[in-house]
Amino acid sequence: MLKFSALPPLALYIHLPWCIKKCPYCDFNSHEIRQNAVGHGLPDATQQAYVDALLKDLENTLPLIWGRAIHSIFMGGGTPSLFSGQAIDRLLAGIRARVRLNAGAEITLEANPGAVEAKRFEAYARAGVNRISLGVQSFSDEKLKALGRIHGRREAIEAAQIAHEIVGNFNIDLMYALPGQTVAQASADITQALALQPTHLSAYQLTLEPNTLFHRYPPQLPNDDLALDIEQVVHETLLKAGFIQYEVSAFSKGEQYYCRHNLNYWQFGDYLGIGAGAHGKITLHDSVIRQVRFKQPTSYLQAVAKNAVQEEHKVVAEQLPFEFMLNTLRLNQGFDLRLFTERTSLPLTSLLLKLERAEQRGLIERDHRWVRPTALGRRFLNDLQQIFL
Ligand SMILES: C[S@@+](CC[C@H](N)C(=O)[O-])C[C@H]1O[C@@H](n2cnc3c(N)ncnc32)[C@H](O)[C@@H]1O
Ligand code: SF4
Repeated sequence: MLKFSALPPLALYIHLPWCIKKCPYCDFNSHEIRQNAVGHGLPDATQQAYVDALLKDLENTLPLIWGRAIHSIFMGGGTPSLFSGQAIDRLLAGIRARVRLNAGAEITLEANPGAVEAKRFEAYARAGVNRISLGVQSFSDEKLKALGRIHGRREAIEAAQIAHEIVGNFNIDLMYALPGQTVAQASADITQALALQPTHLSAYQLTLEPNTLFHRYPPQLPNDDLALDIEQVVHETLLKAGFIQYEVSAFSKGEQYYCRHNLNYWQFGDYLGIGAGAHGKITLHDSVIRQVRFKQPTSYLQAVAKNAVQEEHKVVAEQLPFEFMLNTLRLNQGFDLRLFTERTSLPLTSLLLKLERAEQRGLIERDHRWVRPTALGRRFLNDLQQIFL
């Protein structure tokens, strides 16, 4: 049996599952708003019902997190910016009334440049949102069209300007190695992003995920060599501009702008996930449990009156070291060895042989306190993680 002497920090993830249009590369739990919906946005009644459901979901889960404070909230999607300022305000006020939220907690809302209005952002900020994450993907109209996005270069720039003015602390998501992309085009995307003064930038290589339209009808993507060249220029441009790479895809203008919510995942912290399809990981005094909620918004809305959790299981102790390494090895700084025992309650001895193997292969470097992936380890992260399976 596991025995934890301290519980990890707790974050709250809230899934808002609707989008105006499903992107052909996207395998997130996102659902197109029905064609017959009123106007362009998400009907008010749906927003209200969903906020009620989220608060009920949180209430149902309170016994699992009794007495614990929340240090960050992330509203992800889907397209959370389809929700009105009033709906987000009611949601955040409802959360504060039910759980203790740390003073200065990071509260992020994901927004799609195709669904951004200045007035709405002002209302989000008044509601307590202090960080915006913008799904820009590219600043090229041609690439955005190829990606099936509903926004163009102009909307992306305007959205970033609004985020900069109103919230200040904002992230831009970009994807690279896009269909037909050249090194110069990828470089132009990064340069344009930097000109908009984000505090954080996430750069993801486009992947063809199973169960997406792109997987069934693959576009012409750059070959491996070109993709590597593109990645290099993306990373170099960001580093030259003074950004710190602290995780495989995450770059920040300074330590104070690290995404605390995501950092908590990568440090194998706890998170409660509410909303359709949301995942959670909660440490109890003698076990770690994982939860998944009903994925379809309609099933979720129906189930929540009793229990929105579709699946819950205890993580077996033997699985914990791998899960810990899967996350922490994504961080450039690696991890403090004491964190392993703190987060898994297992002795370090269970890890030592594998650490030795990884070190011999040049994938990690370590001393008596720290383990960090080398440049080679970061490049072959999958191989490195597999050692701990
Ligand atoms: C939860 S998603 C969506 C955020 C928001 N709905 C949007 O698309 O504007 C977060 C980010 O993951 C990245 N992403 C999604 N699908 C991807 C894929 N197949 N390959 C690489 N990155 C992907 C995109 O950069 C996206 O902004
Ligand atoms: S807007 Fe974002 S979440 Fe929605 S379908 Fe596109 S990539 Fe997926």
